[in-house]
Amino acid sequence: MSLQIQEVPAMSAPMELLLLADPSEDKVRSYFPRSKCFVASNGEAVVGACLVQPLGAGAYELMSIAIQPAHQKSGHGTVLLKWVIDFFRKSGASQIEVGTGTFGYQLAFYQRHGFRVTAIDRDFFIKNYPEPVFEDGIQLFDMLRLTLRYTADVA
Ligand SMILES: CC(C)(COP(=O)(O)OP(=O)(O)OC[C@H]1O[C@@H](n2cnc3c(N)ncnc32)[C@H](O)[C@@H]1OP(=O)(O)O)[C@@H](O)C(=O)NCCC(=O)NCCS
Repeated sequence: MSLQIQEVPAMSAPMELLLLADPSEDKVRSYFPRSKCFVASNGEAVVGACLVQPLGAGAYELMSIAIQPAHQKSGHGTVLLKWVIDFFRKSGASQIEVGTGTFGYQLAFYQRHGFRVTAIDRDFFIKNYPEPVFEDGIQLFDMLRLTLRYTADVA
């Protein structure tokens, strides 16, 4: 099934979807003023959303990406991520970054599209969330910073 992807005002972003990727509503709301929001619809309903924020000097950060649980593992997340990568490539961005946990399928999801590990933010999930954050029953402590460079990687 094809998806229609479009930008919407961040203030009208589907919060219940974005909370699947980040358990803190306060944090998600804090991204709104500076973020672009993209939503994916299947013709009947919004099935996915993401927020992207500029970091300066042509760099952007994917703050959140999520697909409705009933529609996950159907390729929609891949379509939305590829669309966002292409959108920022065409807009002349130098790189796009994302922060994610140190394990789990999300790590493969990003690396499959060319994101590389560029830093570790130790204890990020302890310092930034009031409650412990779990993935697959395992507590998340550290955040991996991943970067997709649009220009040739000379590192
Ligand atoms: C991450 C997410 C956006 C991916 O979207 P999706 O539509 O489910 O992903 P796709 O169907 O395009 O699948 C991409 C790959 O991820 C795998 N995958 C997706 N969900 C998975 C799950 N719950 N468990 C294990 N693997 C999963 C798929 O099997 C596929 O791998 P494959 O090509 O080897 O089969 C979506 O699963 C989601 O919303 N997750 C909850 C929020 C979240 O964790 N966001 C990211 C925060 S860093």
